Amino acid sequence: MNAKQRVAERAATFVSEGMVVGLGTGSTADYFIQALAELHREGMPFTTVSSSVVSQIKAHDLGLPSISLDQVTTVDLYVDGADEVSPDITLLKGQGADLVREKLLAKASRHFLVLVDESKLVRSIGQNFAIPIEVMPFAWRMVKTQLEVLGGQGDLRRIAGKDNLMISSHGSLILDMVFPDELDVATLNERLNAIPGVVEHGIFKNLANAVFLGVAGGVEERWA
Ligand code: A5P
Repeated sequence: MNAKQRVAERAATFVSEGMVVGLGTGSTADYFIQALAELHREGMPFTTVSSSVVSQIKAHDLGLPSISLDQVTTVDLYVDGADEVSPDITLLKGQGADLVREKLLAKASRHFLVLVDESKLVRSIGQNFAIPIEVMPFAWRMVKTQLEVLGGQGDLRRIAGKDNLMISSHGSLILDMVFPDELDVATLNERLNAIPGVVEHGIFKNLANAVFLGVAGGVEERWA
């Protein structure tokens, strides 16, 4: 069993009867979806709500019960991966281009567990990845200008190897922006929240309850 499987199996022990369980997106979240399928086969009753179309299809293919996001008010448990995790359990997410659903589930969840291996640990958010910022398509130049005022540099995300722009599942464009180190993450989070035309961004601050870290031979739990 690899580190991603280990953290996913551990997270599955937090699922109990009757829960609404939020499904994340990515290779680590996939292991959790597989662990849920095992619980379902064993007869545990629960339902799922997905953070992306791709996770929804995986859940469907494994026979998991599901409800659509627009039917959900609260989620008992949301389990997802992350692209970066800083020591105060701030996350960077969004490489999968479905930030809106991910942040909705994170905010609506009673418990949000984040599954990572050691490659995701950073001193500060933005160390390894640009900050993904979803924008209304007609607003992207105005938003980019506002981001440049903050010292941001970057451009619209493109589909790797092609000349097409990446578009989220609900039609947003994505700006991948790098900001100066002097701009602390808490301030950046507030500034991004306040720019008109920004649909959502990849900084998840004060949302995760715990990070499950896959380490050699085990799982290290870091609770907020
Ligand atoms: C999806 O948009 C991201 O937030 C994912 O959670 C992230 O890319 C993790 O993927 P892996 O588990 O494959 O690293």
